[in-house]
Amino acid sequence: MSLITKWGGRPKIGFGTFGLNADSMEDTIQTAVRLGYRLFDTAADYHNEHLLGKAIHHCMDTGMIKREELFIQTKYYPVSPYGYEDAYKQFKKSLEQLGLDYIDAYLIHKPIPQYSENTYRMENKEVWRAFKELKEQGKIRYLGVSNFCERHIDFLEEERNSAFFPAINQLEIHPSFQQKGLREWCGERGIVIEGWSPLNRGKMLNHPLINELAEKYGKTPAQICISWSVQNDVIPITSAENENWMRESMESSDFHLEEEDMKRLQGINSSDDHWDIWLYKRRDMY
Ligand SMILES: NC(=O)c1ccc[n+]([C@@H]2O[C@H](COP(=O)([O-])OP(=O)(O)OC[C@H]3O[C@@H](n4cnc5c(N)ncnc54)[C@H](OP(=O)(O)O)[C@@H]3O)[C@@H](O)[C@H]2O)c1
Repeated sequence: MSLITKWGGRPKIGFGTFGLNADSMEDTIQTAVRLGYRLFDTAADYHNEHLLGKAIHHCMDTGMIKREELFIQTKYYPVSPYGYEDAYKQFKKSLEQLGLDYIDAYLIHKPIPQYSENTYRMENKEVWRAFKELKEQGKIRYLGVSNFCERHIDFLEEERNSAFFPAINQLEIHPSFQQKGLREWCGERGIVIEGWSPLNRGKMLNHPLINELAEKYGKTPAQICISWSVQNDVIPITSAENENWMRESMESSDFHLEEEDMKRLQGINSSDDHWDIWLYKRRDMY
C-alpha cells in the first residue's frame, strides 16, 4: 500500500469536493489539477460525481493529465435498505457518473446508518462482500472506510493481512480533533489515514498557537495545519474555491515543524471540537 509514497516529493494531500459551487466546479477542479492536486475526493452523497467526472475528463482529453496519474475516490452511502445489492447498485451509478472504468478507492461513508445501531455489523459485512468482488473484478484499487473507529472495523478481523482489509480510513482530523489513539490503531494495521477538514472548515486558522507558529515559520496558518497533518502521516483532504488558498495548501511541504512545536500542537487537542454531522451521537462513536 503506497498512498503515502505515491507522489514522491509532492505534498501528500487530497482535494475534497463537498459543497463546491456546482456552477464553477469544473473550473475549480481544473485549477486544482493544474496546481498539482492528484487525489480527488467525492461521495455519492455529495451529488457532484458527474461534475468531477466531467472536469477530470476535460483534463485528460486536453493532455493535462493521464488517468493513471490521478487518484479518484468516492464513497458508498449507507442508507436503508443497504447491503450487498445496494453496494453494487450505488457503485455502478458512481462509476457512470464519474465516467470511469475503475475507481482508485471506494469507501463506506460512515459506519452506522440511522436506525441500524443493532444490525450495522452484519449489513457492513454484506456491503464489504460486494466491495471485495468489485476489487477482484479490477473495478476498485483500494477498499476503505470513513468515520469508522476501532469497534466498527472489528467485523473485518478475518480479512486482516489480506488485500481486502481496509487500506484507508478517512476521519475528521485537525489539531483540535486529533484522534491519536485511533490513528495509531489504524497505523498498526497498515491502514492509511486521510484527514477530512484539516483546517476544521477554516476555524483552525484563528487559533492563537497556529498563528504564533505561522509567524515563527513565515508560513500561513493553513500551511501550519496542512504540515501538521502530513508530519503525522495523515493525508489531508482539504478544499478551497479560492485559487490562492488552493496553491497555499499545495505548497505546504517545504518546511518542517520542529518536534517541540509538534508537542505544543498536541496540547491543543480536544475530544469534542468536531463537526456534529451524524444523526446519532458522534461522541458515542469515539
Ligand atoms: N468523510 C466525511 O464524512 C467527510 C466529511 C466532511 C468533509 N469530507 C471531505 O473533506 C473535504 C474538505 O473538507 P473541508 O472543506 O471542511 O476542509 P477544510 O480544508 O478544513 O476547510 C475548507 C475551508 O477553508 C477554506 N480554506 C481553504 N484553504 C484555505 C487557506 N489556505 N486559507 C484560508 N482558508 C482556506 C476554504 O475556503 P473557500 O472554499 O471559500 O475557498 C473552505 O471554506 C470535503 O470537501 C470532503 O471531500 C469528508
